[in-house]
Amino acid sequence: MEFNQIPAIVSGGASGLGESTVRALAAEGCRVAILDLQEEQGQALAAETGALFIRCDVSSADSAEQAFRLAREAHGPCGIAVNCAGIAPAGRIVGKDGSPMPLEQFARVIQVNLTGTFNLLRLAAAEMAGRDANADGERGVIINTASIAAFEGQIGQAAYSASKGGVVAMTLQAARELARHGIRVNTIAPGLFMTPMMAAMPQEVQDSLAATLPFPSRLGRPQEYALMVQQMVRNPVLNGETVRLDCALRMAPR
Ligand SMILES: NC(=O)c1ccc[n+]([C@@H]2O[C@H](COP(=O)([O-])OP(=O)(O)OC[C@H]3O[C@@H](n4cnc5c(N)ncnc54)[C@H](O)[C@@H]3O)[C@@H](O)[C@H]2O)c1
Repeated sequence: MEFNQIPAIVSGGASGLGESTVRALAAEGCRVAILDLQEEQGQALAAETGALFIRCDVSSADSAEQAFRLAREAHGPCGIAVNCAGIAPAGRIVGKDGSPMPLEQFARVIQVNLTGTFNLLRLAAAEMAGRDANADGERGVIINTASIAAFEGQIGQAAYSASKGGVVAMTLQAARELARHGIRVNTIAPGLFMTPMMAAMPQEVQDSLAATLPFPSRLGRPQEYALMVQQMVRNPVLNGETVRLDCALRMAPR
C-alpha cells in the first residue's frame, strides 16, 4: 500500500518506537494521530510533525472509541494502525519473599499489552473495512508490537511474555479473518532497542546488554523499527507474519 495522505493511528506514539513511527509516517505524507497517555510529549511531537495528539488509554474501550472518533473526524477513516503502546514491569511468579505475584499485576500487563492491542485492532479493522480498496484490493494495514520475550521469556517476565505471546498468536488469526476485507495484519518482535526506557539504564548495563547481541552488537535504533513498519505497509504480500528485529539475539533465562 502506498502512504499518500492515508490517515494513520499510532498508539504509544509519544515515545520510543512509536515516536519514530510517527516521524516516519508523517514524513511519508500520512495524516497521523498519536494515541498516548503522555500528553506533554505527545503534544510536542504533534506540533513538530503536523500530527494530531489524542490522549488515550488503550486498555479502555471508551477511551479508544473516543480517540478513533476524534481521529476520524480530523483525518478520515484509518488506513494504517500501528500498536506501540506497552508496559514492561518485571515480577517473579513467586517473589524472593515466597509470596505469589499479585494477580492484578499480571492482569494489568495483559490488559495494556494484549487487550490494548486487540482494542485498537478491532476499531481499526472496522474503520478500514469501510474504506475504498486500492487497485490491489487493499483497504488497510495493522501492525502490532510484540517482543522476542514472546519466544524466550526471561525470569521475571511471566506477564510480559504471556502478553506478547498473545499478540504473536493473534497475528495470523487476525490476518486470516480480515483478509476478506483487504486488511493485512503483521507484528514486529523487537529485541533490544534504544528507547527512553533503555536510555535510563546506566551505561555499563547498556554495554553489557549490547555485548549479548551477535551482530550488530549494539541496541537497535528506533528508526530501524520504523523502517520495518514502512516495509510492512508497502509490501502487499507481507501478511500474517511476525518479524523478529533482534540482531540474532536469543535471550538467556536471565
Ligand atoms: N525498547 C525495546 O527494546 C523493546 C523491546 C521489545 C518490545 N518493545 C515493545 O515496543 C513497544 C514500545 O516500547 P518503547 O521501548 O518505545 O517504550 P516507551 O515506554 O518509550 O513507549 C511506550 C509508550 O506507550 C505509552 N503507553 C503505555 N501504556 C499506555 C496505555 N495504557 N495507553 C496508551 N499509551 C500507553 C507510554 O506512555 C509510552 O509513550 C512496547 O510495546 C514494548 O513492549 C520494546
